[in-house]
Amino acid sequence: MKYNSLFIVLDGGDGAGTTTHSHLLKGFLESKGFKVHLTQEPSGNKIGILLREYLKNKDIPATTDALLFAADRDLHYHGEIKNKLEEGYIVISDRYIESSIIYQSVQSEKITVDWIKKINKFVGKPNLTIILDIDPKIALARKSDKTLEKFEDLEFLNKVRHLYLTRAELEGYYIVNTDDIIELVQEKIQNIVMAKLG
Ligand code: TMP
Repeated sequence: MKYNSLFIVLDGGDGAGTTTHSHLLKGFLESKGFKVHLTQEPSGNKIGILLREYLKNKDIPATTDALLFAADRDLHYHGEIKNKLEEGYIVISDRYIESSIIYQSVQSEKITVDWIKKINKFVGKPNLTIILDIDPKIALARKSDKTLEKFEDLEFLNKVRHLYLTRAELEGYYIVNTDDIIELVQEKIQNIVMAKLG
C-alpha cells in the first residue's frame, strides 16, 4: 500500500460524469497501490440526505440551499475527509465547494461568490480540482432517469457551464471535456492525477 495523501475533487455540471469518473479513478489508483477514499456531496450524513430531498423541491430558497450545502460540507470535511487525509489516503470527492459557488450563485442574484467562500471558510481546500465539461444539451439527453431535479434545466445548466469555465480559468483548474468516449476521458483524468502525484 502506498501512503500518499492528496485531496482531489471532480466537479462539473449535471451529467458531466463526475460520479462515473470518480469511481473509475478510484479503481485506477488502487490498481497502482494507493489507498483511496471515495466520497461525494451532498454527503451521506443527515444534512446531505435532507439536501437530496430538497433537490426535488423548487420552493426551497437558494440561501437555504447554500447554508445547508455549507453545513453538510463542514461536517463532511471535519468528520470524514480530514481524518482520511491524515491516515494517508487519497481522497476523491465527487463535487465540493465549487459546486456551491457555481450552482447557488446561478440560483440567485443575491448570492455572491464571496459569501459562499465565507460560509465555507472553515473547510480544507482540495490539492487538485478537475472540472468535467459537457454541453448541457448532451447531458440532459443522456439522462436515463427522466425525473428531473430542480437544477436539471437547459437554461440553468448553460449558465452553470459558463460559470464553471470562467472560474476554472480564473483559479487554474484543469478542464476535461467529456464528449469523448469514457475510456479516453478517464485516461486524461488519470494523467493529470499521476502528474500531480509525481
Ligand atoms: P449529483 O448527485 O447528480 O451530483 O447531484 C447533486 C446536485 O446538487 C447537482 O445538481 C448539483 C447540486 N449541488 C449544489 O447545488 N450545490 C452544492 O454545493 C453541491 C455539492 C451540489
